[in-house]
Amino acid sequence: MANHPLIQVKNLDLHFGSFHALKNVSVDFHAGELVGLVGDNGAGKTTLIRVLCGIHTPNSGEVYFDGERVTRFHPSLAINQGIETIQQSVGLCDNLSIARNFYLGREPVRRIMGIPFLDFKTMRKTSTEVIREFGLRDNVSTDDEVGRLSGGERQSVKIGRAVEFKNRVVIMDEPTNHLSVREREHVNELAVQLKQQGLLVIYITHDIFQVHKLADRIVIMENGEKVADAKTSEMTADALEDVIRQGGRLVEKREAA
Ligand SMILES: Nc1ncnc2c1ncn2[C@@H]1O[C@H](COP(=O)(O)OP(=O)(O)OP(=O)(O)O)[C@@H](O)[C@H]1O
Ligand SMILES: [Mg+2]
Repeated sequence: MANHPLIQVKNLDLHFGSFHALKNVSVDFHAGELVGLVGDNGAGKTTLIRVLCGIHTPNSGEVYFDGERVTRFHPSLAINQGIETIQQSVGLCDNLSIARNFYLGREPVRRIMGIPFLDFKTMRKTSTEVIREFGLRDNVSTDDEVGRLSGGERQSVKIGRAVEFKNRVVIMDEPTNHLSVREREHVNELAVQLKQQGLLVIYITHDIFQVHKLADRIVIMENGEKVADAKTSEMTADALEDVIRQGGRLVEKREAA
């Protein structure tokens, strides 16, 4: 079998009315890779990710998973392709326990005389194991409501869930916003851990210096265009920041060379 990229984006264009949000974007993502997706506010990072998750349908261009072309953009795409998106503020229900959040929509069921009951014992046991592994301290129980968790602890729940349910792509959209320095480091360590387990991690941030330390590759977007795509081993964070400042001129120089 040919060695296809896990996700391949080809010449993607997307308009919101008269606004051109994605302009001829082509990019490949591979399993076991941590890719930093960087760019200013409104550059099109989240929009690109939403296309991959089936939330937006592009006006033209193609998306392939494992070499197979996506023909229908629908939110089920993310589930079918095993994509979990981790954002700072959404994705968990504050008034439910950690265990319930862990299984949201995938609750194990136990039958007593044919009547289905939620299997709380399994939910508690598995979620505790996974969440401890992802750094939740002993003072937190999976029976606790998510509402009491710190930002970093919430991220641990989402990341643990992504791994347990065999997702193969984890998209982290500004996952460390409003986190303390220590929590930020923890989330970043988890991102590296996911990649080491063979998942594709797409890490969206404004902080090129932070992500350069973690990522194998950095993709920079600006005004809906991809303006750079470089291995971190081949380009320093300073050089990449210059690309952002100069609106992508460096790419043209490299291509011309
Ligand atoms: N549903 C929508 N309808 C109309 N315009 C939209 C929609 N979604 C995004 N946009 C516009 O598309 C542009 C790109 O937005 P996007 O959210 O992709 O930026 P971003 O790179 O993620 O920025 P940030 O770093 O601020 O999150 C913005 O100008 C935004 O206002
Ligand atoms: Mg965004």
